[in-house]
Amino acid sequence: MTYDSSLSFIFMNTTRVVFGSGSSKDVREEVRALGCARAVIVTDSVLATRTDVPGRIEKTLGDSCVGVFSDVVPDSGVHIVDAGAAFARERGADCIVSVGGGSAIDTAKGIAIVLKEGGSLRDYEGFQVLKRPATPHVAIPTTAGTGSEVTYVAVIKDHEAHQKLLFGDYNIIPNTALLDPDLTVGLPPLLTAATGMDAMSHAVEAIHSQQNEPIADGLSLHAIRLIREFLPRAVADGKDLVARGQMLIASNMAGAAFSNAQVGLVHAIAHTVGARYGIHHGLANSIVMPHVVRFNAVEVAATYRPVAAALGVAVDGLSDEACAELVAERLAALAAKTGLPLTLSSQGVPESALEELAEATLADASIIYNGRTVLGAEELLEVYRAAF
Ligand SMILES: [Fe+2]
Repeated sequence: MTYDSSLSFIFMNTTRVVFGSGSSKDVREEVRALGCARAVIVTDSVLATRTDVPGRIEKTLGDSCVGVFSDVVPDSGVHIVDAGAAFARERGADCIVSVGGGSAIDTAKGIAIVLKEGGSLRDYEGFQVLKRPATPHVAIPTTAGTGSEVTYVAVIKDHEAHQKLLFGDYNIIPNTALLDPDLTVGLPPLLTAATGMDAMSHAVEAIHSQQNEPIADGLSLHAIRLIREFLPRAVADGKDLVARGQMLIASNMAGAAFSNAQVGLVHAIAHTVGARYGIHHGLANSIVMPHVVRFNAVEVAATYRPVAAALGVAVDGLSDEACAELVAERLAALAAKTGLPLTLSSQGVPESALEELAEATLADASIIYNGRTVLGAEELLEVYRAAF
């Protein structure tokens, strides 16, 4: 990586991270360590009905648990956050324990805001809106991908406007993250792959961000190495606890990286197609990432040299452009190896929608930090056509 004398940045990583097989059994002590005694569990309906994971956490919390809110759905909405906050308020909750994937953790962040501040989540959209910390939050991820357990961001859908709303605030970073590989063994192969590629996209995007810096770069590069090695293992054998654990760590590191360095065009496109066509966030990232790398490489090819090395490419003697092309190819190959589809057309996006999608992508806040400045919808249409 090259950094010049104008480099300046702030790096924040305030979450207490507890890793280990069985570490979720520490949840009661961790809630108490935050000075709390009345936790509400926030989890999704699938996890609550098809697995015993939320039940196990509830049992471990014992009388420190005052309720389980299990109405979170994928692409959780503002109305669900507001209902969850009302649920938590009724029970006099002083702490949120989220159990699940990105939707559950992001919903919990929203609930933590509304429980503290009142009103509706819509009142707090944007960046650094809050004046004080939200309600304490212990996050227990059951997927390895979003890194939401350490990030300052929540993405919540406005189902009426078909838009994904962004909430970015240091006051919503979870206080504690319990990374327990035992909780991720039940995740099916395709979801393991899609969420794992979400983590990969966080690492790659933090590096090609205009706000990249050495600490986030270091976290991202090691996350890339771990994902390259352990994602195929976790997909091939869901009970491989070593692979599951390393993927949780990679996801966490990539989350801490992008929470500081931001994401870019990959996420801007994924948010746009996700909101309109319901494509899984990690899958959408995985599909468009190689094409965004090629798009960015026209201006910032050197960015991808260390990424290529982290992906196992022998970079000595290769040009920056060749490294970038190999990054695009290796990312597509990793997605294919883990069984993920590679095109937007396979996910029900009609060709006739591409122009409108390109236009809409310009409005997504993630585009601001992309390594190559996007000048207009025509440029984006090329990326969309390539990913189609
Ligand atoms: Fe993401």
